[in-house]
Amino acid sequence: MSPRVVLVGPMGSGKTTVGRLLADRWGVAVRDTDEDIERAEGRTISEIFVDDGEDRFRELERAAVAAALDAHDGVLSLGGGAVLADATRERLAGHTVVFLRVGLSDAVKRVGLGTSRPLLLGNVRSRVKALLDERTPIYEQVATFSVDTDGRSPEDVAEEIAVAL
Ligand code: S3P
Repeated sequence: MSPRVVLVGPMGSGKTTVGRLLADRWGVAVRDTDEDIERAEGRTISEIFVDDGEDRFRELERAAVAAALDAHDGVLSLGGGAVLADATRERLAGHTVVFLRVGLSDAVKRVGLGTSRPLLLGNVRSRVKALLDERTPIYEQVATFSVDTDGRSPEDVAEEIAVAL
């Protein structure tokens, strides 16, 4: 079994919302690795970062991505940092991976200045900028193709992906 499409991209790129729309449209299940981790751990992502640190979260994330890639045939959304792991990038080869591109302003608007995402605490705008700069080349490397999401509704983005696949 293999997901029909894997969505990658930064926080605020719309992976969760676009993933749900695609899954509804195709009548398949949607899976999100952050939700898998929270369910398995019985804790939120923020609690895992606070209690055990980012390294432990990344271990859990690598395992969650591996399990989902092996056992899920619907739409799969990965947490924004999942592609940082070499093992995850290797596993993505051969899958249809869509990178949801987003610029700084739209990403900040979508996550909101009051976000509880642990990596964005402090100055949201400068943290988002640093993550976009660091990770955009990695998303480009793993993606089969990418879709621009700036200024567009999730419905519009899902439509473009569905037409392309
Ligand atoms: C992270 C993104 C989050 C979540 C965690 C770390 C990241 O997922 O996995 O807070 O490193 O970019 P979303 O991209 O779904 O917000």
